[in-house]
Formats: sequence, structure tokens, C-alpha cells
Amino acid sequence: MSATRRPIVSGNWKMNLDHFEAIHAARSLGLRLTPRAAAAVDVTIHPPFTDLRSVQTVVEAEGIPVSLGAQNCAIEDAGAFTGEVSPRMLARLHVTSVIVGHSERRRLFGETDELVAAKASAVVRNGMIPVCCVGETEEEREAGAARDRLAAQLAPITSALGPAVTGTVVIAYEPVWAIGTGRAATPDDAQEACRWIRDLVRTASGDQAADTVRIQYGGSVSPANTSSLMAGEDVDGLLVGGASLDAAAFVDIVTAAA
Ligand code: PGA
Repeated sequence: MSATRRPIVSGNWKMNLDHFEAIHAARSLGLRLTPRAAAAVDVTIHPPFTDLRSVQTVVEAEGIPVSLGAQNCAIEDAGAFTGEVSPRMLARLHVTSVIVGHSERRRLFGETDELVAAKASAVVRNGMIPVCCVGETEEEREAGAARDRLAAQLAPITSALGPAVTGTVVIAYEPVWAIGTGRAATPDDAQEACRWIRDLVRTASGDQAADTVRIQYGGSVSPANTSSLMAGEDVDGLLVGGASLDAAAFVDIVTAAA
């Protein structure tokens, strides 16, 4: 956590909670989030597409201090792309950030580093912030190749966005072996990887971008490990999966990050 970059905590609901449950979850957040925590941290929630309109309506009507996010999007704004979800239409729903390149999309749906970069550009083109996920597998880490893997994932993104935009986005360091396993990275390992990412951004995009880009850690984040993870100088926030489905736990994470 740094003195200059505002913390950002994001809840990735993945393919959980139908729109009835999502309304309930958003209200539970509204009841629990204190003004103090909401003033100190950017909080985003990323429900499934089918929930977005319902959650948008509740968040706006009740003044719940969270921003709406999505989990994925198409690279085109409109056209003959059956089954895809347009970033332009997400922006029309007041979605402000979109996760791109989550490891589940890379691993299960074959998203390449280049496609992820194109998605990041599509999100920016529509006035939203991409939360660009990068992270190594366990085998890559054991082989000492983690930094190289992060570099390969980041390069197309920084080149597609350019230096000025890169400084405004969010990069999420999510080691694949830590996601949904209950085995979070140690605070030192999370900080080291976030530092690598900031150094890679510095090389590709310059000091301004490196000093302003916000870097999250994600992977088995819980209320118990939030403070120690956030202690890292280059860790600006958290991308939370499982624990974001429990409003009390998620608010504990936001409060500890504040
Ligand atoms: P997790 O998921 O917190 O359940 O490990 C994190 C993520 O996939 O973004």
C-alpha cells in the first residue's frame, strides 16, 4: 500500500448468485459498508452479466458505495458475434471496470495474451477501466519462470494501451496456484511479484505509468490475511473471489484494506 495510490478492492463473484441473490448481496454490502471504509477504498463488485441490470438499479437507487464491474467482455462493440457481451453495452449499464484475462478464462476458454490485450483496449475505448489479470502457474513458479511469464502476459497489454493509459488501469497479480485453493501467496511473495509488475511497467511505459498504475493481489484473500498482504509497498488492492460472496467477510476485507 502506498501513500499516493488509492486502494481498490474488487469482488469477483464468478458464476455465482442469480439476480435475486445478487440484489440481496448488494443490499447486504450497503448495510455493512461504513462511510469511513467507503471513503478510503474504491470498492468494485463484478456480478455475472445476468445480474448487472438488477444490481445497477439497487446500487444507484440506494446509494450503495460500490462501483459496478463485469467479469469479461467482447473485443467488438456490436455486430454478428453470437453470445458475446459488448463492452459498449456494459458501459451503458454504468459498469465502470471489467476484469480481463482472468486465469479461468485463459485456462478454460483459451484466451491468449493477445486477446486479453485486445479486450483491455476495448474496455478503455468504452471509457471503462480494465482489471488486467496476470499470474504464473505452480509449475512456472517452481521452474523459476514466474517473472518471465508475467512479462509475457504484460507486454501485449502495455503495448496495446500505451504509456498514458497504462497508468490509469488496474493490474491484478493472481498466481494460478493461489486461486480458490485456500493457499494465498505469502505477503513477501505477493509484494515481490507486484514489484516485478511495476518494474515491467516502468520499463515498458515509463515512470509516470509505473507510479500510478494500481496493482492488486488476488488468490485466497480473506479477512485474516488482508492486512499483511496490503502491507506490501506495491500492493494497491485485492481481487477477491470466494470471500466476496459473503458480504460480512468482504466488508471485513475492505475495512482492513482501508
Ligand atoms: P479466490 O479467487 O479469492 O476465491 O481465490 C480469486 C479470483 O479468482 O479472482
